Amino acid sequence: MNKTGKLYGVGVGPGDPELITVKAVRVIKAADIIFTAASSKNSYSLAVDIASPYISESAKIETLKFPMTKDEIQAEAAWTDNAEKIARALTRGWTVVFLTLGDPVTYSTFGYILKTLKQVMPQADIETVPGITSFHAAAARLNRILVEGEESLLVTSGAYGGQQIRQLQQVKNIAIVKAYKNIPDINAALKEAGMHEKGVAIAHCGREKETIFNDLDDLESRAPDYWTLILAAK
Ligand SMILES: C[S@@+](CC[C@H](N)C(=O)[O-])C[C@H]1O[C@@H](n2cnc3c(N)ncnc32)[C@H](O)[C@@H]1O
Repeated sequence: MNKTGKLYGVGVGPGDPELITVKAVRVIKAADIIFTAASSKNSYSLAVDIASPYISESAKIETLKFPMTKDEIQAEAAWTDNAEKIARALTRGWTVVFLTLGDPVTYSTFGYILKTLKQVMPQADIETVPGITSFHAAAARLNRILVEGEESLLVTSGAYGGQQIRQLQQVKNIAIVKAYKNIPDINAALKEAGMHEKGVAIAHCGREKETIFNDLDDLESRAPDYWTLILAAK
C-alpha cells in the first residue's frame, strides 16, 4: 500500500518572478501534482506562470474552481469537491502543491482548502510555505516603512468600502487589499481618519502593468482593477 502523500500550500509571491522563496522552489520542483485556484481573473495563469520554471515536466497541473458566490451551500460544495480531489492525490502517495499568489494564509483560497481538507481527510499531512504578501512587496517597491516602533498596522479588505477604516480610528498604518471597488467611500473614510494625505496606491506591483498612484484621488477617475492595494498612514 502507498504511503500517504503530503500537501504543501505554497505562496509564490505577488508577481515579480524573483520574489519566490528558495523553499517554495524546492517544494514545487518535487511536486507530482500542482493545484491552483480559478477564482478571480488571472490568478490561475499568474501563479502557474511564476512557478512554471520550477514545475517538473512529469507533474500534472489541475485547476480547482472556487465560484465567486454568496450562496454558502454552493461555495461549500465546491470546497468539498476540491478537497476530495486533493485527498485522492494524497491517497496515491503523491507530493501535492496548492499554489497561491502572495502568501497562502493571507486572504487566500488555501484557507478554504485547509478548512475543508481537515474534515474530508483529518489525518492529512499539510505544510504551509509562506510567500511574500502583496502589501510587503508594495511597501518595498516604494521604499516605504510599513510600521515601526510601537505603531500598529491594520491589514483590511476594501471590498465593502470605508466601513472597516471608520471603526479603527486609533490605527496609525493601514494596508487595504481588494481596493478596487467603492474607492470614493474608502477615500472619504481615509480623509476622516487623517490618513488620506499619506496614502499611496499601487496596482500590479512588480508586474508589467505596474502603476503607482501617489494621489489617492486619482484612483477615482482611473478605475483601478482587482490587483490594486492602498498603503495609508496618519
Ligand atoms: C485575495 S487578495 C490576495 C492576497 C494575497 N494572498 C497576498 O498575500 O497578498 C487579492 C488582493 O491582493 C492585492 N494584490 C495582490 N497582488 C497584488 C499586486 N501584485 N499589486 C497590487 N495589489 C495586489 C489586491 O489588493 C487584490 O485585490
